[in-house]
Amino acid sequence: MFHRINLLLICCLLLSACQMNTTPNFSEDIAPIVQQKCIKCHQQNGGGPFPLTNYQEIASKGQLIAHVVQQKIMPPWPADPEYAHFTGELALSDKEINQIQKWVTSGMPAGDSSLQLELPPNQQIKNSNFIVVKLPQPFLIKGDNKDHFFVAKYPIQVPANTYIEAIEFVPHQLKLVHHMNAHLINYSETQTAFPHSAPYWVDQNQQESQRIHKDLNLCYTDGSYPAMTPSVCNYLPGAQFSKYPEGIGGFSLTKQAVLYINDIHFGPSPIPVIDSSYFKIYLTDKAPVRPVKEFQIGTLGLSPVVPDLSIPANQIKTFKIEFTVPEDISILNMVPHMHLIGKKFKSYAIKPSGDTVRLIAINQWDFRWQYFYRPPHLLKLPRGSQIYVEAVYDNTSQNPNNPFSPPQLIRDRNGSMKTTDEMLQLILTYIPYKKGDEDLPNE
Ligand code: HEC
Repeated sequence: MFHRINLLLICCLLLSACQMNTTPNFSEDIAPIVQQKCIKCHQQNGGGPFPLTNYQEIASKGQLIAHVVQQKIMPPWPADPEYAHFTGELALSDKEINQIQKWVTSGMPAGDSSLQLELPPNQQIKNSNFIVVKLPQPFLIKGDNKDHFFVAKYPIQVPANTYIEAIEFVPHQLKLVHHMNAHLINYSETQTAFPHSAPYWVDQNQQESQRIHKDLNLCYTDGSYPAMTPSVCNYLPGAQFSKYPEGIGGFSLTKQAVLYINDIHFGPSPIPVIDSSYFKIYLTDKAPVRPVKEFQIGTLGLSPVVPDLSIPANQIKTFKIEFTVPEDISILNMVPHMHLIGKKFKSYAIKPSGDTVRLIAINQWDFRWQYFYRPPHLLKLPRGSQIYVEAVYDNTSQNPNNPFSPPQLIRDRNGSMKTTDEMLQLILTYIPYKKGDEDLPNE
């Protein structure tokens, strides 16, 4: 008996020693990583600049891949996976990063070089009752090699008030559309509005934010605001569309409505490009069960940034926000938001019991990857919880994202959305808490 256990132990040791020494090969070790963490963007006609779907394509970019994964530039996942986990997390583990380095330095052995990676299946929604909503005037992206951020409105007209099951965004210029966030504005029949007249979009880099909303004619003619349902559709390369969990449902839709895009980000282009990205709105006769709400805290929101968001030239400065949760809530989505010179973002909540709930940490803020982070299960915060946000901005010339050279004073100018001004926000989408929410998966 003793002898057999010993033998087993030796075998195990030998086996793991062998595994440690084996050189990773493409088909067994690298393909599964690329399959899981890269291919949703890096496929033919995907959001990434080139496909990574077979040995040839991956090996020919081997050195570059080793570099971008080591530097954690790719896959794009700014949230710190050691602080909090989210649905669809893309970050690579240290082990996966090491495997890729080892594979590249050992000459990229193929294993089975004929292996073709499987493309992820298209998400399907089993509802053929949809309408297509297009922009009456497509986006015009300047050919100036700069990022462009547009605010836009897509008018919707339906014959009678109804409900929405899900909304799908269909990007046109796949290599340029970097992210898109849409809200739904429903107009009441008893008030007059101009939501269907031009202009349909404004390039934020060219306009002050106050003008943008005025120009888009989103209010009623008396200046009051219609009802807005936040975050009804969010897009990033590789994401198709997302639905809220069963038991929450979709959204109400009135006869006159607008999908308000705030914002859509296009990457740099050397030539002028027209973009006709559109939406598919899946209708249903089922009313939403639990309408979704939002807290926008920080700039323009429910509690102020302390001190005032103003970062003198050549300084690195930290700011804070505090917010008390007014009722028991279940968080669906978290959106940290800063502009170009943001560096770090961290948020947590302290419950009345004294326990800390980690919300999100971003150690290397990247303005170009603005994610909507979904906790894997609905996240409960009881009434009276105190939410804290701490954010660091770097307005020195050492910051490669500084839009000014030499650095200049950068501040929040009345909530200007220009990228060269700053903002600090945490936007939480939530529903009032109900027993059992913690067990609801949030995929
Ligand atoms: C969410 C979509 C997405 C995922 C997932 C993704 N990429 Fe990318 N990748 C991009 C985009 C978009 C670019 C173009 C550069 C940019 O916009 O930042 C890019 C650029 C690159 C580049 C070129 C970088 C350069 O400097 O030229 C490499 C190499 C790369 N990705 C490798 C990977 C690898 C390896 C993975 C998986 C481990 C991965 N990417 C996952 C979207 C993605």
